Amino acid sequence: MSVAAAGEGPGRPGGRPVVRFAGVSQRFAGAPGTPPVVALEDLSLDVERHEFVAVLGPSGCGKSTLLRLVAGLLAPSAGRVEVHSMPVVEPRDDTGIVFQRPTLLPWHDVLGNVTFPARHKTGSVTPAHAARARELLELVGLSDFARRRPDELSGGMQQRVGIARALLLDPDILLMDEPFSALDALTRDEMSFELLRIWTERPKTVLFITHSIAEALLLADRIVVMTARPGRIREIIDVGLPRPRSMDTLAHPRFHELSAHIRGQLFSRPVAA
Ligand SMILES: Nc1ncnc2c1ncn2[C@@H]1O[C@H](COP(=O)(O)OP(=O)(O)OP(=O)(O)O)[C@@H](O)[C@H]1O
Ligand SMILES: [Mg+2]
Repeated sequence: MSVAAAGEGPGRPGGRPVVRFAGVSQRFAGAPGTPPVVALEDLSLDVERHEFVAVLGPSGCGKSTLLRLVAGLLAPSAGRVEVHSMPVVEPRDDTGIVFQRPTLLPWHDVLGNVTFPARHKTGSVTPAHAARARELLELVGLSDFARRRPDELSGGMQQRVGIARALLLDPDILLMDEPFSALDALTRDEMSFELLRIWTERPKTVLFITHSIAEALLLADRIVVMTARPGRIREIIDVGLPRPRSMDTLAHPRFHELSAHIRGQLFSRPVAA
């Protein structure tokens, strides 16, 4: 099995990484009278251009924190987070984000939410933006809900609006925080293959957080397996399953082999001395 150990430096040879974490630690103030929460500790990772990297790890190990650092929503307590070799200091226009919770604007309808990145970036929504938004709504199965408000949608539908919104400006970097977790199994599979289709047609650098080993194996080039808090990289796995991926991928012997390996990593506990 080709498994590269954490800390071996850049994941893929050649080219400058699009995203770089260099010795990143993140501490948050604890409740009064309690010590700070160490969410991430000394984490280093390079994500190469157009690479699809999935991150798996126990709840609370700092996965969303990792994404917020790349998104420019948080500054690291220690170390550096860079995009295209520049420190991330604020949200970037070339980065699309799907948050763990959809965070839609309640006063806009679905179309208004999906076109929000255009309005935010340029101050207006062109007919081309509106047309693209409608295409994306069709893609995520929400064409009939364009004029509905977020509170009229189910959680899974809101999440799909968030996915369409993140894709509107065809970002070079796509950050996805458990984007499919609120979807039913069938829609989830459909959306996974749809995401792969979009990624193949319009290549992007993707950082994808998930709790699903199968989803990570189906989508990613590499999988970062994290430890429980404080989050560190436990292992980086080269998936190496042939592309294009399809339902047949699920029956591939390597899929089962890696699945069992990752499950072992995620559920193994440190042995007491
Ligand atoms: N703004 C904040 N202030 C204080 N603590 C925070 C803050 N954001 C995150 N934390 C803490 O940092 C740790 C990591 O949180 P994070 O949301 O990154 O975990 P996660 O891996 O995404 O978990 P989950 O899988 O449940 O979504 C948690 O202990 C959390 O309580
Ligand atoms: Mg999270």
